[in-house]
Amino acid sequence: MDSRGLILLQIIVLSSLGAKAFSLSPYYYQNICPQALPTIKKVVQAAVYKERRMGASLLRLHFHDCFVNGCDASILLDPSSTIDSEKNSLANRNSARGFEVIDEIKAEVDRICGRPVVSCADILAVAARDSVVALGGPSWKVRLGRRDSTTASRTQADADLPAPLMDLPALINNFKNQGLNERDLVALSGGHTIGLAQCFTFRNRTYNATNIDPAFAENRRASCPRTGGDANLAPLDATPASFDNAYFNNLVKQRGLLISDQALFSGGSTDDLVNTYRMYPRVFWNDFRKSMIKMGNLKPLTGNHGQLRTNCRMVNY
Ligand code: HEM
Ligand SMILES: *[C@@H]1O[C@H](CO)[C@@H](O)[C@H](O)[C@H]1NC(C)=O
Ligand SMILES: *[C@@H]1O[C@H](CO)[C@@H](O)[C@H](O)[C@H]1NC(C)=O
Repeated sequence: MDSRGLILLQIIVLSSLGAKAFSLSPYYYQNICPQALPTIKKVVQAAVYKERRMGASLLRLHFHDCFVNGCDASILLDPSSTIDSEKNSLANRNSARGFEVIDEIKAEVDRICGRPVVSCADILAVAARDSVVALGGPSWKVRLGRRDSTTASRTQADADLPAPLMDLPALINNFKNQGLNERDLVALSGGHTIGLAQCFTFRNRTYNATNIDPAFAENRRASCPRTGGDANLAPLDATPASFDNAYFNNLVKQRGLLISDQALFSGGSTDDLVNTYRMYPRVFWNDFRKSMIKMGNLKPLTGNHGQLRTNCRMVNY
């Protein structure tokens, strides 16, 4: 090979290394801190053992992080003079939970690793996976190496997080804005196979909808009065502490809790996929894995962008 060829080869090797350094990898912490992932898993398992719902809450945190300017832990920043906290957005206020568990994981991981080398954004992604596994769901290799934002945006959160009153076209459009397709929408909505929702998020559907199983509606109304009881809880599917496919079974029986849930099975383009997931849980699991990885790759901060926060609730100074 002549010297021009060598230089060309060098350029190719260097640029592919460069690309690697700036994209996410499941092995990111293998040398930096091999105990990082087992440590996260341990804290998540303990938290889910203490309260099964925490697994659902942690999964939702990662989703709400990724949909607002990418998976950059912006959701974890507390309000301050410079931070218009996403915690105060419509979808998160008095609703998003699990922040104390993230703090606990962060403290434990920093202690085990000897310094703050694991980002808060990666903690959210791994905790979501470990939560799904702890509740009996599928596992996947989480791509890692995200860094943390120095900003947050309540306005962006209000614009980008989907609302429970959305119909199918609105949901499809909301996911499309994130580069996610209809299959991602249905698979990821399967996250509602775990966890609970408050009365104010499903009241209108249980009193007004026509595409609802009447017995189911009556049952839900019993714990969700026309006025008051806004924070009363109901399960998102029949088995809210198990990551199974009951969610899709429920949709076919018109027992979706939120308008946005039933919208996935109401005579539209996603009906077939709901039926597939209902009949073949493995297909749901495989698609859920794939879509979680896809969602986890949304606009990560890598290289020298962002920072590694020492406290997930505050930017470093
Ligand atoms: C498709 C659009 C979606 C809408 C409109 C939506 C809306 C909601 C609402 C209104 C709640 C109840 C919140 C409360 O009452 O405080 C909720 C809970 C939940 N969501 Fe979603 N969601 C969507 C997609 C997703 C996705 C993609 C995931 C994860 C992959 C997810 C995971 C969860 C979980 C696990 C809970 C229960 C949280 C808990 O018990 O603390 N959701 N969602
Ligand atoms: C049912 O729909 C009507 C008409 O839109 C509305 O006035 C009423 O407040 C709704 N009821 C509930 C409980 O949301
Ligand atoms: C409540 O439900 C009714 C009937 O489905 C609908 O016409 C109305 O727009 C809904 N209200 C809200 C706030 O979604």
